[in-house]
Amino acid sequence: MEKVTIGPLPYMSVMPALLVGANVEGKANYMTAAWATVACMAPPMVCVALNKSRFTVQGIKENGTFSLNVPSCSQVVATDHCGLVSGAQEDKSGVFRSSYGKLKTAPLAVECPVNIECRVFQSVDCGSHLLYVGEVVEVHVDPSCMTGGSPDVEKVSPIVYAQHAYFEVGMLLDKAFSAGKKYQPA
Ligand SMILES: Cc1cc2nc3c(=O)[nH]c(=O)nc-3n(C[C@H](O)[C@H](O)[C@H](O)COP(=O)(O)O)c2cc1C
Repeated sequence: MEKVTIGPLPYMSVMPALLVGANVEGKANYMTAAWATVACMAPPMVCVALNKSRFTVQGIKENGTFSLNVPSCSQVVATDHCGLVSGAQEDKSGVFRSSYGKLKTAPLAVECPVNIECRVFQSVDCGSHLLYVGEVVEVHVDPSCMTGGSPDVEKVSPIVYAQHAYFEVGMLLDKAFSAGKKYQPA
């Protein structure tokens, strides 16, 4: 059957709901971002696409640093709030408590189980959005969310963003880098 065409949209089936932390004029600000992923392994890098109008962008330009914070499902209301309200209109520094790690200028949301400290490696002007590629300087994980030395997705309970809604991570389907060994040509 022929596929339906929906136009040249920046479609992605699922995305993580994250909080980008940046100090703007010396004060912590958190904004919700879903357009984010891993960019490089060595050196470790992540990236996030931010509309040029975001208050957060001002802070990243000021300091050359930002954080990606992983909220858990229990923080869905605060997470959505940070995506509805701009720090330019309302002070969001109290939505999460802030701590500072190695970079000193990238606020880390204490209540989020995972915080990723980033130093800006490059920003790519894509048009409406700047793609910030950040070199990961440190990853902070709540000890209660660790299993066998690694963050445990069931314990972190990250928020999945899709179709303008929030979801939990679903059931385990199969093991990656392993399921394919069962492949048989049709
Ligand atoms: C679920 C969700 C995902 C979002 N993802 C992004 C994103 O990836 N990039 C972006 O620029 N804005 C994104 N936004 C919009 C910003 O979070 C929103 O404009 C916010 O108020 C900006 O805050 P700031 O002005 O304090 O930086 C998202 C909002 C929501 C609710």
